[in-house]
Amino acid sequence: MARSSPVFVCSECGGETLKWQGQCPHCSAWNSLEQRAAAARAPASAAARTAPKVLGSELVRTETRFGTGQGELDRVLGGGIVPGSVTLLGGDPGIGKSTLLLQVASHVAGSQRVLYASGEESESQVGSRAARLSVGAATQLAVVTENDLDAILSSASDRKVSLLVVDSIQTVALPTITTSAGAVGQLRECTAALVRFAKSTGTAVMLIGHVTKEGTIAGPRVLEHLVDTVLYFESEATSRFRIVRATKNRFGAVNELGFFAMTEGGLREIRNPSAIFLARAAEPAAGSVVTVTRDGGRPLLIELQALVDRMRFGAPRRVAQGLDANRVAMLLAVLNRHAGVSLQEHDVFVNVVGGIQIDETAWDLPVILALASSLKDKALANSLVAFGEIGLTGEVRPVAYGEERLREAQKQGFKVALVAKDNAPRKPLDGLQVLAVSRVDEALKAAFGVDS
Ligand code: TYD
Ligand code: MG
Repeated sequence: MARSSPVFVCSECGGETLKWQGQCPHCSAWNSLEQRAAAARAPASAAARTAPKVLGSELVRTETRFGTGQGELDRVLGGGIVPGSVTLLGGDPGIGKSTLLLQVASHVAGSQRVLYASGEESESQVGSRAARLSVGAATQLAVVTENDLDAILSSASDRKVSLLVVDSIQTVALPTITTSAGAVGQLRECTAALVRFAKSTGTAVMLIGHVTKEGTIAGPRVLEHLVDTVLYFESEATSRFRIVRATKNRFGAVNELGFFAMTEGGLREIRNPSAIFLARAAEPAAGSVVTVTRDGGRPLLIELQALVDRMRFGAPRRVAQGLDANRVAMLLAVLNRHAGVSLQEHDVFVNVVGGIQIDETAWDLPVILALASSLKDKALANSLVAFGEIGLTGEVRPVAYGEERLREAQKQGFKVALVAKDNAPRKPLDGLQVLAVSRVDEALKAAFGVDS
């Protein structure tokens, strides 16, 4: 029987209830239920039901992905765009989402039909952006400025496009749903309609989504569950570097990172990010240490900086940019207890250069070195890199992918690597001396003993 009673949808978790309540029974959020008229669900007729298919003969196809024109983005997607897939690109306003997808659209339009639907900007705005990106010549790229999703889908199917870009999912709406664009019910139903369209026609769909202050894509989590791939665009406010990270990918690995720089002519991929993030002064400076992170599917050399300053008044400040401040506080305690370096009377600032966010323990050791270097006002050798986890008892622990990290350091011309004993390579690496240590105090002694 068709259901006609209204359904209430939670704006936090997307859960449904039949009657309004002050608190969502699914996620316990308060005042988050919004009314949505439930679409009448007629039972599918026998003919309309999908017939089962035989896995071997009908379903196993060799994937024919197509490139985005940006090697870094292809990598994050797992090797390009999969036909019939739905990708959601989230990020702060102004970070470059429209720019990136317009560049992708124009590249794909070189060989296939593409529709770029913008509910955010006027035709002339899209046009002037295209001129700035020098993509005007792409003949198979059609642009529509439209908020009505039905109209967008019908132009996409009329034109038989291979790629449909929707900028943004928060600005489109289905007229059959009473709530306005951007409301949870709309977001859900529009995304679901786009997913159905992608799967039934084999069109690849890329959606732009705004993020909330908390950093998640606005609207319910459900949106992320509906799509195949979720990408986030990240950056420091002042940096021109942009990082695209896959947080969900049905067609590839998650947490892959792609690097871009925003230029006058749009986004440019950075193929050798280590070299960019390491653009340091030639003279070694106190408080600076290079480490190899492997957050994001590949080794990346980055610079960590610490500044230790005698506290002026009140409680000492601990500020960490790009890494977890609690972990820095723990490292300060270890330094004090196991290496006799006390920073209780000092303000401490730690920063990851280039606006990268590091989420792994391999930077414990380099942070400790950077703190000690700043405190002593003594620079560490420019040729030194360090990575390793620090335990509460002052031990230096090995981290995963040690050899791969060492090879990256070797490739970028570093001469000395300070690592945990168990990260020492079995075979020596050409031109890279490895200092293997097991305790914090030992690590400090070894690091300051390296000649510049
Ligand atoms: P945009 O793609 O509009 O961001 P989003 O869609 O995520 O809101 O990018 C806007 C910013 O990028 C804007 O501040 C201008 C800058 N920009 C460039 O620096 N170079 C360019 O070629 C373009 C098109 C934009
Ligand atoms: Mg935009």
